[in-house]
Amino acid sequence: MRIQKHLLPMAVSAVTLAVSGHAMADTWKMALGDAAGGTQYELGKTFAEFVEEKSGGEVTIDLFPNGQLGSEQDTVNNASMGILDLSVLAINNITPFSPTVGVLTLPYVIQSPEDAKTLTQGEIAEELTQNTIRDAGVRILGWAYSGCRRLTNSARPVASPEDLDGLNIRVPKNEIMIASYQSWGVNPAPLAWSETFTALQQGVVDGQDNPYITIDTMKFYEVQEHVTDSCYVFSLQPLIISEGKFQSLSPEMQELVLEAGEEATDHSYDFLLESEEAIKKRLVEEHGMQITQPANDEQQWIEMATGIWPDFYDSIGGKEKLDQALEALGRDPAPQS
Ligand code: MLT
Repeated sequence: MRIQKHLLPMAVSAVTLAVSGHAMADTWKMALGDAAGGTQYELGKTFAEFVEEKSGGEVTIDLFPNGQLGSEQDTVNNASMGILDLSVLAINNITPFSPTVGVLTLPYVIQSPEDAKTLTQGEIAEELTQNTIRDAGVRILGWAYSGCRRLTNSARPVASPEDLDGLNIRVPKNEIMIASYQSWGVNPAPLAWSETFTALQQGVVDGQDNPYITIDTMKFYEVQEHVTDSCYVFSLQPLIISEGKFQSLSPEMQELVLEAGEEATDHSYDFLLESEEAIKKRLVEEHGMQITQPANDEQQWIEMATGIWPDFYDSIGGKEKLDQALEALGRDPAPQS
């Protein structure tokens, strides 16, 4: 496994391939939207090491962190077209291509790592995987669990939705997340992940949301002072493979790749549980971030945002899909709209 800090110019890599007169290992490319370190990287690295070891070096995997291979949404297109092998990206950046996975990003459905595991490792996940193959031409092989998305901003403590007044908040280009902010009374700015740090740094936007681990990996503490300890969406980051690539593999290699995905998923879950608290502490103690608790146990945020659920029943495949998820989590069905 190699981690590519910068892309090689095309001419150089072509020459390298052309002059090496013997059979070379098959080298796959994996895009990571985040910087090295963090949950995307842990998932990708564990997957790559497993595949390389178990294939006896027949396959090597190069990791390209920091959005070097394009925005997260671009990588779905590229994998779908077969010009990229693998990508690790946030689930919210797959939803535009395969809307039924939106059930995982409806606000306040997933409230804990255990909930996230339940919905990504059972029957519901299997159906969503089949849907992404059908809709987007990519197959979900594994999941990184990054924790709840926390609102950060550079201006002031935010405890209740009214505190957002006048703040320009970046959101992914995801209809559900845009609607969540609209329910809290603001019009957020949809921006690609690869453009987010610069937009925060230049003050084009005042805030964004992502988990503690991502805030740390992406060094957002350099440009954001305040964090709200909210949990409106749990950040799931699937590892996808181009379905064309997957189908071109031998049955043994397909099996190996699926096994590697499971191994990497287990590792990612443990990584979250082991590291999130320490990272949160470090953000405060070493980087001076200030954490604000949401007012009234987040009740106002929850009431306003869950009001958007019915607007997305059609896109997720019907209210019954949400009810099925809630039931798997041991909760009551969604209220009738
Ligand atoms: C986003 O905010 O677009 C993503 O959640 C970022 C990520 O992939 O970590």
